[in-house]
Amino acid sequence: MYRVHIKNNHHRPDTFPNTAQGEEVFTITKERFDAAATAHTDVASQLDVSIDWDTDNFDHHMATTDALVTWNLPTENLAEVAPDLKWIHIIGAGVEHLTPMDWLPPGVILTNNKGVHADKGGEFGIMSILMLHNHMPRIITNQTHARYDSLYSTPIKGKTLVLIGTGSIGRAVARHAQSMGIHVIGVSRHGKKLPELDEAVSVDELDRVLPLGDFVFVVTPLTTETTNLLDVKRLGLMKSGAGLVNIGRAGVVDYDALVDRLTTGAIGGAILDVFDPEPLPPESNLWPVPNLVITPHVSADDGNAYVSLTLDVFFNNMRRLINGETLENQVNTALGY
Ligand code: OXD
Repeated sequence: MYRVHIKNNHHRPDTFPNTAQGEEVFTITKERFDAAATAHTDVASQLDVSIDWDTDNFDHHMATTDALVTWNLPTENLAEVAPDLKWIHIIGAGVEHLTPMDWLPPGVILTNNKGVHADKGGEFGIMSILMLHNHMPRIITNQTHARYDSLYSTPIKGKTLVLIGTGSIGRAVARHAQSMGIHVIGVSRHGKKLPELDEAVSVDELDRVLPLGDFVFVVTPLTTETTNLLDVKRLGLMKSGAGLVNIGRAGVVDYDALVDRLTTGAIGGAILDVFDPEPLPPESNLWPVPNLVITPHVSADDGNAYVSLTLDVFFNNMRRLINGETLENQVNTALGY
């Protein structure tokens, strides 16, 4: 038998200020686990599973566990606390809250939830791009002032999207965009050409391509390389009146500089789904900014199926672990994603 511990979080924004994890939608209850297990009975029959909350009984569970499923964990002395631990699965895509990852005992594998967000994130992505193209942030701002101003737009075909981040969500956005005739320029660390990208460049070429975008879409993890990637200078390179979306992490974009550019109209509109801290506090200077739509970190998480999608990733990897195969979704601990 393999011991698996599932550590859920209660929703306590005071304790976990930078994350929505802890909400019901992310909670792995016994009922949800058992439901997902029915599609993986070959694996489930070999597991002895404990489910607990926050750090309740954490050391006790970890003393014998082979695999941990969680959003976060106390990382100190993990090798002593969990001598049998082989694998930690993080139930989110972004793992910046666990960096630097020097706490990970040698030989313990860290995986994340990449892929789980693609369908939902792709749809949210194309919705945001269409909203920007159709001046919706400005129209919503106008509505709050009872201003009836007919802002017309064209079909979107032929417009250019600069997509920063070409992981599974970025690729899903790109597929939708391409199907509407949008020219997609993908920007990534590696600059790899992918079928859904019309052009692919590495981040060294960001300054060259930024002025080409009618829309700039940010969906990168937060790492040392992406922190403040869209700084004041780069926001200044965006085409006049272009739109910006950020569903990655707040730290990738200089929001103070963005506020200035939205206020002057240099950036035509923006849709932001990620903040630091989250929840975005009522006193934040972002709330009243014109032509800005604020969404509360809802872009990519499937409100019905997040846990079952997560558990599919878990069971498939658990099967690989049992069979001595390489696990999928491994985090590169040096790069932090
Ligand atoms: C995640 C997210 O990292 O939803 O999973 O932002």
